[in-house]
Amino acid sequence: MSVHPVVERAAAGELPPWAEATDERRQHMARVATLLAEWTRQLGLPVPEQVRWISLGYLHDALRDADAEGLRRRVPPPLAGLPPSLLHGPAAAEHLRIDGVDDGALLRAVAFHTLGHADMGREGRALYAADFLEPGRTSLRDDWREELRIRMPGAIDEVVREILGARIQHLVDVGRPIRPETVGFWNSMASEG
Ligand SMILES: [Fe+2]
Ligand SMILES: [Fe+2]
Repeated sequence: MSVHPVVERAAAGELPPWAEATDERRQHMARVATLLAEWTRQLGLPVPEQVRWISLGYLHDALRDADAEGLRRRVPPPLAGLPPSLLHGPAAAEHLRIDGVDDGALLRAVAFHTLGHADMGREGRALYAADFLEPGRTSLRDDWREELRIRMPGAIDEVVREILGARIQHLVDVGRPIRPETVGFWNSMASEG
């Protein structure tokens, strides 16, 4: 599969013109991309795969700082009802699709990087992990994140399962609903174990 120029430029750190992301956000995106780049090298992936993975670091949050209601109008119906903070993934995927990107696995990785998805490919799982494990994200449980980072990229499925399990547990603890896409992601990961 040839890599679309928008994806190639993103992998070099050049965001599409429709991106709306603060400087702080761009730093997060660059750190996610750096982590993904390291993993592709450790996995010995061919160059076009490296480009796809690295581009995800930049593309996944390209619209993270755009107005949520504006994004809602750009998201196709099944996902337009998402909470405001989750619209940026599907909206970015839709922009990429309109730009001519027809790499289904890449579009799915961008669209579902927060929710997860039953059909998430390896690049989407890697993005899901890198988004959580990038070293600039200072949060509780830094020791746990460090431990997971050390196990990457060899134990990608186990690591994703731990992150996803913790997120689902958190939703249960605070009494929030769990989206069907997230349940589907869990079921697909669990059944592979
Ligand atoms: Fe995001
Ligand atoms: Fe992110």
